[in-house]
Amino acid sequence: MDKIIIHGGKKLSGTIKVSGSKNSALPILFATLLTDDNCEIQNVPVLADIKTTIDFLNFIGKKTEMKKNTVVCEKSDKLNHIAPYDLVRKMRASVLVMGPLLARLGKVNVSLPGGCSIGARPIDIHLDAFKKMGANIELKAGYINITAENGLKGADIEFRFASVGATENILLASVLARGTTRIINAAKEPEICDLADVLIKMGAKISGAGTKIITVEGVKKLKGFKHKVIADRIEAATYMIAALMTKGEVTLTDVCPEHLKAVADKLIEAGADMKISENTIKIKSEKDLKPINIRTEIYPGFPTDVQAQWMALMCLVKGNSIVEETVFENRFMHVCELQRLGANLKIEGRQVYIQGVEELSGAPVMVSDLRAGAALVLAGLCAKGKTEISRIYHLDRGYETLEKKFESLGADIKRVEG
Ligand code: EPZ
Repeated sequence: MDKIIIHGGKKLSGTIKVSGSKNSALPILFATLLTDDNCEIQNVPVLADIKTTIDFLNFIGKKTEMKKNTVVCEKSDKLNHIAPYDLVRKMRASVLVMGPLLARLGKVNVSLPGGCSIGARPIDIHLDAFKKMGANIELKAGYINITAENGLKGADIEFRFASVGATENILLASVLARGTTRIINAAKEPEICDLADVLIKMGAKISGAGTKIITVEGVKKLKGFKHKVIADRIEAATYMIAALMTKGEVTLTDVCPEHLKAVADKLIEAGADMKISENTIKIKSEKDLKPINIRTEIYPGFPTDVQAQWMALMCLVKGNSIVEETVFENRFMHVCELQRLGANLKIEGRQVYIQGVEELSGAPVMVSDLRAGAALVLAGLCAKGKTEISRIYHLDRGYETLEKKFESLGADIKRVEG
């Protein structure tokens, strides 16, 4: 398996283009199942999860291919309603196939997604919502078999938690349902708005995306679309933090600053200098940063997907800080690996207590999940000596050409065939 080798200590400087959002592209790709027409999706990042989804769509019967950063889906013939374990186990977002196939075929059999290193990540909110829309659900031999013989009907659905995936799944199911669906306590992430924009382009009748209550009037048929995916706010945040950790100066282009407000506010509070224009952010810090606590929240709060990267930053800031994770129950897998690099961290329940250290020292470390891997890369960029990062296939799921982007900013970073 490939590894990343970093010799730390180089200041990052220069400009990089932020890629399209993985977490926006994925539900939009599944939305193509809602129409037999051609679809074109631009600014799609070249990532393992995108390839998995394209393989998935082709398996289901939607002829899909990717050329550079554009995905083209052609007219589909008969759709298959079974999503097998060997596809679903690779990517939890595969559960997003449920909404479109229930909407189109009135049935779907999806393998249970299985566990994940950052938490159990159940899908009870998704399934309860489908039941409210008239679906029957049976768990059998590791599969979730969902049927809606008379098609889905609109319903008032209140989420116990503002789940991103469940909001997306119910949006994908309700656009072709009979009658009106209201999602109460919907997720408000930018990726939800991007998906809603696509569905509206397809002819769906949606109002309230980005707020707590989303209303959908079901329609009979949806048409193809052309869409450019929004910038990846989590990738952008990762590079902003890298710039500060290495005491460099980096400009990000093709970024959407308003999607990064919670992170930018905390970075400014810590002492970062930021110049923000319509779609660029220039970041550096002349002075030592201050230790600042964060608590992850649903959007527009501080994103859980930037928690690990923030922890890496605070490891090298003089003073004490606390990171609290409220969204996932086990998202501190990066702590023990950061400790191997010399970080002074202590886990207490949902909080990690950080004591900044003068210096980190390079060592072999292992990636457990996508964003934990990002935190290890950031720490490696600053650690004295050599850091060898294994299991980087996790990184390939969510960061487009990560080592090339960092190399272009001056990092001493190489991918070696493992
Ligand atoms: C999406 O995951 C993102 N993935 C995650 O990004 C992100 O961390 C998460 O939203 C929160 O922002 C994609 O968009 C592909 P949730 P999702 O449903 O939809 C619990 C990354 O690094 N929950 O909002 O799975 C769940 O266990 C990935 O890019 C239930 O209990 O997130 C978790 O604790 C990691 N029952 C919390 O809600 C359910 O039915 C948040 O989950 C659904 C969720």
